Amino acid sequence: MYNRRLQMIDVLSGKRVILGVCGSIAAYKVAELARNLTLAGALVDVILTEAAERFVGTATFQAVTGRPVLTDMWSLPEDGVVGHVSLGVDADIVVIAPATANTIARLAAGISDDLLTTTVLVTQAPILCAPAMNPNMYEAAVTQENIATLQRRGFTILEPDVGRMAEPMVGKGRLPEVATIEGELRALLGQHNGPLRGRKLVVTAGGTHEPIDPVRFVGNRSSGLMGYALAATARDLGATVTLITGPTALTPPSAVALVRVETALEMRDAVHAACQDADILVMNAAVADYRPADVVEQKMKKSDAGLLLQLVPNPDILGELAQRRDLFKVGFAAETQDLVENATAKLTRKGLTMIVANDATTSIGQAEIQVTLLDADGTGTPLSRQPKQQAAAAIIAAIVERYLAFNQDR
Ligand code: CTP
Repeated sequence: MYNRRLQMIDVLSGKRVILGVCGSIAAYKVAELARNLTLAGALVDVILTEAAERFVGTATFQAVTGRPVLTDMWSLPEDGVVGHVSLGVDADIVVIAPATANTIARLAAGISDDLLTTTVLVTQAPILCAPAMNPNMYEAAVTQENIATLQRRGFTILEPDVGRMAEPMVGKGRLPEVATIEGELRALLGQHNGPLRGRKLVVTAGGTHEPIDPVRFVGNRSSGLMGYALAATARDLGATVTLITGPTALTPPSAVALVRVETALEMRDAVHAACQDADILVMNAAVADYRPADVVEQKMKKSDAGLLLQLVPNPDILGELAQRRDLFKVGFAAETQDLVENATAKLTRKGLTMIVANDATTSIGQAEIQVTLLDADGTGTPLSRQPKQQAAAAIIAAIVERYLAFNQDR
């Protein structure tokens, strides 16, 4: 896992991330965030406030980032630039997690009496702030007003989670999951300078379930892995992503709009609604071609006579959008024979710009995939067999390249 993450070309690679940690019990959780960002290739400079040092030590953060941890405004090297402002000037993104009521208040008031507040004041990079504190402190009018002030000034503020606090009480004030903060950070970076910023991309994932009775369905083996990875990669490149998913066992990526559906008919409605103002549709879902003609209301009893299930065709969701020339459409074709011929026929029939073809026998339910990208002009580009996450990144990169040309031609 360690090596694999390092090998991936990640949008975080080489990015300068400032991670400001304040004095909250949740401070220990962000060591994992620092580690994940570092493994993704970011240069993570951790700033601990004085209060944070009472909760966590510098050694942990130093070990996971491989960089010195900063605590003192006056101890930075002064190589030409004034030391205490250089961090903020060079940053690609600043994330404050956990952000305490006190630091939020100091930031709202423009106070810069320590390294973190000075860095925030001086930076022109996007700022992500994840408040975590006692629920009463969070709900306090002054905190809410300070948060609103920061939002007005362009800070992105994450809502704390609701749940059990360190002290014996339940409320809103918990630090969001590390994966959520990382997803939001990636989205913010992408929206700042990613090639898909300002674009709306719809991606479908997983397989549909077509009910037979209240407990049974007709389905397929799609895991949703590829679709979820496509959604996360497009988000990282700045797209506003809607992920329409059939039932899967996966945790969805954060910072995407999630629409859960079960059947092909529900997916069709969701795709049509989401595509009204979309720029790109990536139709990765394994939509069931048929559904049972009638859904039996009560659980069916077994019978020695066996069971004959009558199936009726589902609508072709992509095919129905063939006339939407303004929409950049990408399809997927999982074939077991005559891969290129079959996939090309689908590309033409459904009016697509590109189709991603793969051999179903070696991909469904597997962690790795070998795909061939087929363009409307007949060009075929085979990619090497690779983990689905990596293949998703390559597919989105190909979409970006083609979308920019598609958009220029219009
Ligand atoms: N697709 C769709 N609606 C359907 C079936 C498929 O939108 N009812 C989309 C898939 O998401 C995929 C593309 O069409 O992007 C090709 O799907 P595939 O199942 O390979 O092709 P079919 O058109 O269903 O043809 P066949 O099953 O005969 O291979």
